[in-house]
Amino acid sequence: MQYIVKDDFNGISAAAYDIYADFIKKNSGAILGLATGSTPIGLYKLLIDGYKNKELDFSQISSFNLDEYVGLDPKNENSYNSFMWKHLFDHINIRPENVHIPSGQGENLKNNCREYDRLIASSGGIDLMLLGIGENGHIAFNEPAKSLKANTHVVNLCPDTIEVNSRFFDNSDDVPKQAITMGLSQILKSKRIVLLASGRKKAKAIARLIKEEEISCSFPVSFLRVHTKTTIILDKEAASLL
Ligand code: F6R
Repeated sequence: MQYIVKDDFNGISAAAYDIYADFIKKNSGAILGLATGSTPIGLYKLLIDGYKNKELDFSQISSFNLDEYVGLDPKNENSYNSFMWKHLFDHINIRPENVHIPSGQGENLKNNCREYDRLIASSGGIDLMLLGIGENGHIAFNEPAKSLKANTHVVNLCPDTIEVNSRFFDNSDDVPKQAITMGLSQILKSKRIVLLASGRKKAKAIARLIKEEEISCSFPVSFLRVHTKTTIILDKEAASLL
């Protein structure tokens, strides 16, 4: 794990863009793992600019998103599906058939999970995985717990995650209580990982990640310590307790 510190949100977005632009130019058929949330929005804007400037071509790129709420229609404005189309896919030339987002709908969510893992495996695995970090140390929706599941699974969201994510909904009762998330196995098998963190609210989790050595299910991001090619990009506020 290496980390770099930039001045602010624009700085981390630009640093992440440099990695992505270089990677996509060298690997035109790359498989990207993608995150939702506030943190990647700056990077996504720059990727859209890169496409519009003809610097980047997404026609052969495939993507797998980390997670999706259970029970929300993909067209619901708060679904991660809608988020991704609004903030990235609608503005670049990625082929819709190459976009993959777990489905939190249907009778048999376990089947959806197995199917998602099968698709990731048959694509050859994720080349470049983008992660954010929860204030509680979650990555994707692998929430702190006594034990964690390796593969894509249904998870009960922690009350604090529901509270943090309620900012996107009319009120916290509207936030789904469950999500489908990639497990640590899919994340750690990624050939390269970039984790972005911005703002003082992330500082405690970042300090724990970088200063401590323990790997623990109660702090899921700590599993990144076993990954050999992870870059953490922080702004000064997220790095303020280092
Ligand atoms: C989103 C995801 C989450 C977020 C994390 C940080 O797909 O997997 O783990 O990355 O909750 O969210 P933001 O960026 O909104 O602070």
